[in-house]
Amino acid sequence: MVLVSDALTKRFVWSGIFTLMTAPLIWVVYLAYTNQLGADPAKEIVDDLGQWAIRFLILTLCASTFSRRLHIRVLLQHRRMIGLFALFYVLLHLFAVATFILGWRVDLLIRELTDRPYIMLGMAALLLLTPLGVTSTKGWQKKLGRRWSTLHKLIYPATLLALLHLVLLIRASTLEAIVYSFLICLLLTERLYKNRKSKKRKSELRRKPLT
Ligand code: HEM
Repeated sequence: MVLVSDALTKRFVWSGIFTLMTAPLIWVVYLAYTNQLGADPAKEIVDDLGQWAIRFLILTLCASTFSRRLHIRVLLQHRRMIGLFALFYVLLHLFAVATFILGWRVDLLIRELTDRPYIMLGMAALLLLTPLGVTSTKGWQKKLGRRWSTLHKLIYPATLLALLHLVLLIRASTLEAIVYSFLICLLLTERLYKNRKSKKRKSELRRKPLT
């Protein structure tokens, strides 16, 4: 009975998170459909999808910290879905850039990559995130063993590159850039502190003589 109610609660929470994370996309589509995106709808779509991509990346980083420090485990239990949604919004953002800004011209993309460092940084972030999405399944986790967690640490440099991409955009709102930078620095510092602590504990255990 307890097992059934646990499974039901998990399913309910899963559906809630899924709905909440799909809502921004539905909202952007609704605003576009009803012509409420202002004078430059294409730019608005690109920026909105990019904003949600970085917010969901930060939420993915929050999962283990929230579980460790605040004993809130709901994000950790659904970290895979949250991370996949972050990647989904990055891909939608790229699709919008390709459609509305580049007009699907590869020559333009190559020129932009060399002319604008922020595009290069965005691309680098996407390149780091893609293998994480591909290997997020249980099957890959088993296949890669301990290397899986090492590979998935790529989320940290990927988030930093995404942040730099945003900071280098002159148009990006300063307040948003400050809030994202603060949150990412906080989460990365917490993770570094935790890693140092567990390394210290391991080396202490190794040094301890066997009795
Ligand atoms: C992890 C990956 C990425 C994240 C999190 C991200 C995030 C963002 C954000 C938040 C903005 C909006 C800034 C604002 O509000 O003014 C933005 C804008 C932009 N991004 Fe990305 N981005 C990513 C990858 C990419 C990639 C791969 C490309 C293209 C190859 C790209 C191209 C652009 C462009 C062109 C803009 C400016 C659009 C405009 O004219 O307003 N981004 N990005």
